[in-house]
Amino acid sequence: MKNYNPADSFDQVTAAQDVHFRRGDEEAAVRFLKQLANEGPALELAIGTGRIALPLAATGIAVDGIDISPHMIEQLRKRPGGEDISVMMGSFVDTVMSRKYSLVYLVFNSLFNVLSQEEQIRCFENAAAHLSDDGVFVVEAYTPAFLYRLQDNQYVQAEAIEVNAVRLDVLRHDAVGQSIAENHVTFAADGIRFNPVVQRYAWPAELDLMARIAGLHLRERWGSWSGEPFNSASDNCISVYAR
Ligand SMILES: C[S@@+](CC[C@H](N)C(=O)[O-])C[C@H]1O[C@@H](n2cnc3c(N)ncnc32)[C@H](O)[C@@H]1O
Repeated sequence: MKNYNPADSFDQVTAAQDVHFRRGDEEAAVRFLKQLANEGPALELAIGTGRIALPLAATGIAVDGIDISPHMIEQLRKRPGGEDISVMMGSFVDTVMSRKYSLVYLVFNSLFNVLSQEEQIRCFENAAAHLSDDGVFVVEAYTPAFLYRLQDNQYVQAEAIEVNAVRLDVLRHDAVGQSIAENHVTFAADGIRFNPVVQRYAWPAELDLMARIAGLHLRERWGSWSGEPFNSASDNCISVYAR
C-alpha cells in the first residue's frame, strides 16, 4: 500500500475504540498464559490497551509491556490497573527491557505488523534475549490458509451497518509478498474515516524456523487458547517456544 505508515493503524481514534474491543476468548487466553508464566514476570510484546495484559496482571502475575503506539499506551494507562504495568514505547523488534521473563508473549497477529522477514526474525531474537533459562515465548497468529481461498485474492465485507454509518472491510492478498493490504472504511454522517492495515504473514513452519534462528524450539502448538488441537482446519495458531 503506497505511502502506508504503520502508525496510521494505531492512531488516537483507533486506540480509543480498542479499549472496548473483546474477541471473546480472553479468559481462555489468560488461563493459558498464566499457567505458562509460573510465578512470572511476564512481558507482552505489542501490549496495546491491555486486553490480555490487564486480566493477566489481575491474577497476580507482574506484567510489563512494549508497544510502538503512544495512543495505545495512553489508553492502557487510563484503564484500572494500567498504571501498575511498566510499558516501554518502542518496537518489539529491538526494545530492551531491564529484566528477564518466564513468559514473553505476542498475540492477536501482532508479529505480522512488522513487514519484513528480517524484522520478524529480530522480534524472535529479541524475545529470546528476554527469556529466563526456562522461559517460554508464546506467539498467536492466524494461519494464512483462508487467504488462498479468496476469489480474485480479495474481498469487501460489511463490518457494521447502522442507521447513519456503515463500515466496510476491504482486503487484498498478495501471495508472492506474503502480505495483505486492508482498509476498514467508515462512511458516517460526519465524514469518511480510513483505518489501513498492512501485514506480512508467515506460515507456522516459517515461525518455527525464525524461532530456530533465535535459538528456540517449538514445544507445543494449539488451535485455540482452550486447547483445541492444531490441524489443517485451524484458523488460529498458538505456538509455545522454549530453548
Ligand atoms: C491488534 S493490536 C493488539 C494489542 C494487544 N496485544 C491485544 O491483543 O489486544 C496490535 C498492537 O501492536 C502494536 N504494534 C504494532 N507494531 C509494533 C511494533 N513493531 N512494536 C511494538 N508494538 C507494535 C500496535 O501499536 C498495537 O497496539
